Amino acid sequence: MSKQWGGRFEKPTHAEVEVFTASIGVDGRLWDADIRGSVAHARMLGAVAVITPDEASKIIKGLEAVHADIQAGTVKFKPEAEDIHSEVERLLAEKLGPLAGKLHTARSRNDQVVTATRLYLRAQSDALHADLKSLQTWLVDASSGFRETIMPGLTHTQHAQPVSLGHHLMAYFWMFQRDIERLASGRVRINMLPLGSAALAGTSFALDRKMVATELGFAGVTANSLDAVSDRDFVVEFLSTAVQVVTHLSRLSEELIVWSTPEFGFLQLDDSVTTGSSIMPQKKNPDVAELIRGKVGRVTGALVGALTMLKALPLSYNRDLQEDKTFLFEGLDTTRACTRLMTLMLENARFNAERMKAAVKGDFSNATDLADYLVTKGMPFRQAHEVVGGVVRFAIERDVGLEDLTLAQLQENSSMFGADTLALLQPTAVMHARTSEGGTSPERVKEQIALARQLLAAKGD
Ligand code: ARG
Repeated sequence: MSKQWGGRFEKPTHAEVEVFTASIGVDGRLWDADIRGSVAHARMLGAVAVITPDEASKIIKGLEAVHADIQAGTVKFKPEAEDIHSEVERLLAEKLGPLAGKLHTARSRNDQVVTATRLYLRAQSDALHADLKSLQTWLVDASSGFRETIMPGLTHTQHAQPVSLGHHLMAYFWMFQRDIERLASGRVRINMLPLGSAALAGTSFALDRKMVATELGFAGVTANSLDAVSDRDFVVEFLSTAVQVVTHLSRLSEELIVWSTPEFGFLQLDDSVTTGSSIMPQKKNPDVAELIRGKVGRVTGALVGALTMLKALPLSYNRDLQEDKTFLFEGLDTTRACTRLMTLMLENARFNAERMKAAVKGDFSNATDLADYLVTKGMPFRQAHEVVGGVVRFAIERDVGLEDLTLAQLQENSSMFGADTLALLQPTAVMHARTSEGGTSPERVKEQIALARQLLAAKGD
């Protein structure tokens, strides 16, 4: 294939160099964004009379025909095409002949590629946003049914204080809410039009960049042509949000894996989202959760790759930047898949409230409440902590939980314990007592669920 830039070359490109420099295998997916960018560019060139209105409309029709062919699957991208941008232009030339050559007036692939990347990423970022909202919707709906479902709350992976399963699941809602906010913020910086910056310095043609921005739905145009063709901050920023998403997913995955062990038995994952073993007939493995946990490395790798690509890169466009899409698509695809698979796994999970409740019984996670009781009777908290430490030892020696002690036994440890102590030691009472704002008491969880539902219903979010 003759190169767009072949004029000054005496020799053909070495075959290995062709392969090494080509990106069509990676950037082929930008075809729709590339064509939309070209249509807007051609329309604007016609409007400002750089080309005639008739030429503009022929080019636009030609581009629409190329779009239809690609969509219908009737064209295959040539593997020897350098990238999707050259390939679309070649396909256009097949239809229009030399007129196709007018499309690239006042444009370089340097501003073209980053325009297509921004258009594509804007839609994909919105799609991830929607994926996250589906996950959040499951979390809120499930949490609302599990506000009274008691389970051990852990610190250091040791029983600490009981919480409700609803409260626990809602913790993840808020993690994903912050991710959504990060996506929304990053979108503002994705949504600027670089086209019109040409190769690096701008162009001598009197373009109407705002017209192109409006047609493509960009909020504005970039202010500096050198920056516009070199900037990939928006890729880094998106990948950094993606890493946060998959990191949150990996924490949830880890809990699902542990909860579905026979030792815990808090959870049964559905057959449809688990896999078996080729040797052990009894096995049902949480491979989806494990893979979500395992795939964090890919997304983190993509972020580090993008940052490393940019480090010390001089202005303006350099071919290094072509690597951005490998990192971006790897991070994007992995994050979207992990988010959707997590939702699917959760939608099909069965929680075992009885096992969770049994795990709290006699686990001393009511000890803080015993100390708090003494505080209400006037004892300084440090002293109450000491006294209750003694009660815990007392109960361990007798092999019972705190809630199994009699009033007389409690009073052996402190005469301040009254008859009302026994009721507050019941695990459910302990959970209900956590009434501070953001606490695990069912009333407070109801509040956060109401707030979450408002956020989910908010327009544009
Ligand atoms: N495919 C390239 C990229 O993705 C765009 C081409 C720019 N090439 C050039 N020689 N200026 O970055």
